Amino acid sequence: MGKQIWKPGNMLYPLPAVMVSAADREGNTNILTIAWTGTVCTNPAMVYISVRPERYSYHMIKETGEFVINLTTEKLARAADYCGVRSGEKVDKWKECCLTEEKAVSLEFAPVIKESPVNIECRVKEILELGSHHMFVAEVTAVQADEAYLDKNGKFDLNKTGLLAYSHGEYLGLGKKLGTFGYSVKKNTVGAAAGKGERHSGHSHRNNKKKGGKRRGGFRRRKAG
Ligand SMILES: Cc1cc2nc3c(=O)[nH]c(=O)nc-3n(C[C@H](O)[C@H](O)[C@H](O)COP(=O)(O)O)c2cc1C
Repeated sequence: MGKQIWKPGNMLYPLPAVMVSAADREGNTNILTIAWTGTVCTNPAMVYISVRPERYSYHMIKETGEFVINLTTEKLARAADYCGVRSGEKVDKWKECCLTEEKAVSLEFAPVIKESPVNIECRVKEILELGSHHMFVAEVTAVQADEAYLDKNGKFDLNKTGLLAYSHGEYLGLGKKLGTFGYSVKKNTVGAAAGKGERHSGHSHRNNKKKGGKRRGGFRRRKAG
């Protein structure tokens, strides 16, 4: 059997389905779900979200230049879906989803969602009006990580939070662990590509390292190779 050829469309999955919190200058706040999101730069830490201008939240993000990406978990799946199918123009999503607003540490207006294990506070740098969606390219100004997921050595175990994935219209858990960064070229591991693989250390948690070798926020970097 061959492959079907489709017209151009969005088939890049899995994606996160994050809850983005925002506020206007009068103090009205809202949450919307976003799947068109990603990391675009390590240093400075930069991310993007793409939002349709007709979303109620759009003007909030544009007005204040602030938003927070709140990571979602299996426990938050229902809330993530609800915040993506109801508009803040008509309902109070905080109340309907039993979510709690908390002050961001680095932003003036946009709040964080307390129930989310990781809140990525962002300040807009550029808006690219691409078409159906406008892309907010933003600098990360702070990250809040729930201490409940710190192990006894102070390492933040993100994958213990039960992260949620979104793929082709469905919400999924992440499934079993298959390896760790660089495992394919590590010596003496099952599944290593006979030690011949090219080392690809393009992404790591290097940005969490403070000058002088200390790491920020309890993240720990694996020894390369
Ligand atoms: C899983 C999921 C992903 C979504 N991703 C996006 C997105 O990337 N960009 C966008 O503009 N809307 C996205 N939406 C739709 C908005 O979240 C939805 O229209 C929401 O009701 C807007 O809320 P608001 O009107 O209160 O701002 C998504 C919805 C769901 C359920």
